[in-house]
Amino acid sequence: MSAYSEKITLITGNANPELGRAISRELGIPLATASLRRFPDGEIDIKVDDDLRGTDCFVIQPTCPPVNENWIELLLLLDCLRRSSAGRITAVMPYFGYARKDRKDEGRVPISAKVVANTLVGSGADRVLALDLHAAQIQGFFDIPVDHLYAKPVLLEVVRGLQVDKPVVVSPDVGGIKMARAYAKALDGADLAIVDKRRISGSQIAVEHVIGEVEGRNVIIVDDMISTGGSMAEAAGILRRHGARRIVVAVTHAVLCGPAIERLDAAPIDKLLVTDSIPLGERRPKNVEVVSIAPLLAQAIRNIHHNESVSSLFD
Ligand code: R5P
Repeated sequence: MSAYSEKITLITGNANPELGRAISRELGIPLATASLRRFPDGEIDIKVDDDLRGTDCFVIQPTCPPVNENWIELLLLLDCLRRSSAGRITAVMPYFGYARKDRKDEGRVPISAKVVANTLVGSGADRVLALDLHAAQIQGFFDIPVDHLYAKPVLLEVVRGLQVDKPVVVSPDVGGIKMARAYAKALDGADLAIVDKRRISGSQIAVEHVIGEVEGRNVIIVDDMISTGGSMAEAAGILRRHGARRIVVAVTHAVLCGPAIERLDAAPIDKLLVTDSIPLGERRPKNVEVVSIAPLLAQAIRNIHHNESVSSLFD
């Protein structure tokens, strides 16, 4: 990385251009003009029109479905910026795909999160700006700075507006307890509960117990993502069977693949809050409200550019 100029260049890939435009509006900086097209055989053809020499570049590209398409497009964009003599390149990844494969939990499997971290750096990223990584320790897969943002303050503002009376914050599995505890603490020390979940396959899960008291209580289920919707639908179901009253869900990443929408629609969820880290398609689950993460990302970009603290955004 060479020294970078005062000028910020913002570029969005095709993964979530609406979020790119929202960040651009927040910052008052236009998006660089780039053409991201396909060759006849489907390969990606990229050309950035603006002069990038020496500028502080931020490439906005969550690696959400279609995951492999969006990953390759990001890597090619990074390479394009590097070869255009950009001063510094930050990969802004509001959703970091492949994060769930972060360790070798059985024989003869890749550590996919490490592979994609290597390719990001190899393609030209000088920094990464991520949001609610599936596992915070993925930061350690990089030897470049990784700024890790949390959607919690943004989602909490809306949760508070819902005026949920004496809520119990629920984690839909044991792995999410740290996040649930952080939400409970921010909600004036709300009670905590955990759903005891067992994953049977990529899209099938079983829930057996609820650890904690939810009978007659309003609950707020928090998680980093909804993928096939199995975990959330099953969690909401068992909570209702255990006597939970109002069920609010707050989730950062709405991956919503496969049967997710049908599962969520059939589940006893009164309100579903998600961020726009991933674009929602035309078909949306019922009772959904999308909360924009653009102001938080814009502020983080500002702070990174001015060499100011990013963690202070969460003090
Ligand atoms: C699991 O560790 C995650 O936090 C989510 O609970 C999980 O990835 C959701 O997957 P699905 O929606 O397919 O059950």
